[in-house]
Amino acid sequence: MNHQTQEPMRVLIVDDNPLDRADAKAALIRGSGRVYQFSEAASAEEALHLCSQWPLPHCIVLDLGLPDSDDFDVLIRLPRDEDNLLRIPVVVLTASVEIGLSQAALRAGAQDYVGKAWLLPETLTQAVENAIERLRMTRSLEAQRRLADTARQQALQLEAENRQIQEATRLKSQFLANMSHELRTPLAAVIGFSDLLLTGQVPPDSPKHRLFLGHIGTSGRHLLRLVNDVLDLSKVESGKFEFFPEPFDLADLVKGINDVLATEFQLKQLRVATDIESTLGALVLDPLRLRQVLYNYLSNAIKFTPAGGLITVRAHALGARHFRLEVEDTGVGIAVPDMARLFTAYQQLDAGSTKRHQGTGLGLALTRRLVMAQGGSVGVRSTPGRGSVFHLVLNQIHGADAARESGDEERLAASMDARLLVMHDGHGNLTHRAGHGGLPAAGRSSFPNLDGEANKQCADQKGT
Ligand SMILES: Nc1ncnc2c1ncn2[C@@H]1O[C@H](COP(=O)(O)OP(=O)(O)OP(=O)(O)O)[C@@H](O)[C@H]1O
Ligand SMILES: [Mg+2]
Repeated sequence: MNHQTQEPMRVLIVDDNPLDRADAKAALIRGSGRVYQFSEAASAEEALHLCSQWPLPHCIVLDLGLPDSDDFDVLIRLPRDEDNLLRIPVVVLTASVEIGLSQAALRAGAQDYVGKAWLLPETLTQAVENAIERLRMTRSLEAQRRLADTARQQALQLEAENRQIQEATRLKSQFLANMSHELRTPLAAVIGFSDLLLTGQVPPDSPKHRLFLGHIGTSGRHLLRLVNDVLDLSKVESGKFEFFPEPFDLADLVKGINDVLATEFQLKQLRVATDIESTLGALVLDPLRLRQVLYNYLSNAIKFTPAGGLITVRAHALGARHFRLEVEDTGVGIAVPDMARLFTAYQQLDAGSTKRHQGTGLGLALTRRLVMAQGGSVGVRSTPGRGSVFHLVLNQIHGADAARESGDEERLAASMDARLLVMHDGHGNLTHRAGHGGLPAAGRSSFPNLDGEANKQCADQKGT
């Protein structure tokens, strides 16, 4: 190779003895036909300074016995890359031929070593060329190792994602099978009872006639709830869900749901207690959505509590702006490993062939999404065999937190206005001027989807 045409090789010679530096330079010049561009340092500090200057040397020939540093001080302080490899290859010059010292220099990062006693032109030239090549190869090996690491990480991640997709597919298939069963049962009831009535064999004024009509109505409403749950979940998942806040009294809302569920409480001989903190002022939220959420908690409590049990609905203010609503049951409870599966779409803890209870596994997922889309959080604590407490925490005024944080005074004022519309009539009854349609447009809001499945937590799940 014609070295004369190549870029000069920049070599930094570090030695406190000027004669030794001259020897090293002479050896290199004599050892190859290369063109060299030398720089020299007589101390560790000088060497380190030159190694911070651009352009960097191609190689350093370093005497270990510098007066201003310990043996490996310079080596340790030389600039390194992210793999902790020296940026500049180093050939160490050792006065002694002590093998231990030379090997320690290699361990400290040097690429090669030469004993000063053997400072022959070919030996030093070869050592410099080797040092440059060795560092280049080590770097390329490191780069390959890093690539392999990244590929391994990506493969692991893909595997995990694949497992998640498979699990989601499994849950969806299970959900569809379950859903078709859940849809068929009330549909069969509607068709069966209406066919029966159509035969004319049941006199219209008989109690049976009324009973069958009741069955048709109940099954129809059940079907409607199933379909609504599916539609609501997909809407809230796509962030297109709208809330219509209006002032209402929480105690009234709870009483309303308890009345609707009265037959179910009676059928299972369940006692119901309510404990709504009286200081908890009127709320300004979407009452339909809160009712839906509370209905989900209560219908679960009924479903998973054996006859004779007690269900308690509790609510209290949390500070001036939030409130906590709890539904406690004395039911079957939930095992700790199952907690993480709650609030996830299509999850039923006793799903599959062993399934004993009705349901599609959407109630808690929808509850979580609805609460989180309003900036709130949901959670549960449970003792297997003794019961569970499901809770939610929400703003007392819809969107107030979001408005405060974004400094959206107008929106906050709209919320506050709505709150001012709430009036007591002096007999403990609550009246308000806002119509059932809720607030004017400013009070209506549509919230983006705030969470992903990955946000799921075992016990408490927050929206932000
Ligand atoms: N209070 C509770 N006690 C014990 N287990 C519960 C309770 N609430 C929920 N679970 C468990 O969590 C699962 C999911 O509840 P979720 O409300 O999402 O679905 P579901 O009640 O089965 O069906 P859906 O509400 O859609 O009709 C239930 O199937 C049950 O295994
Ligand atoms: Mg449910």
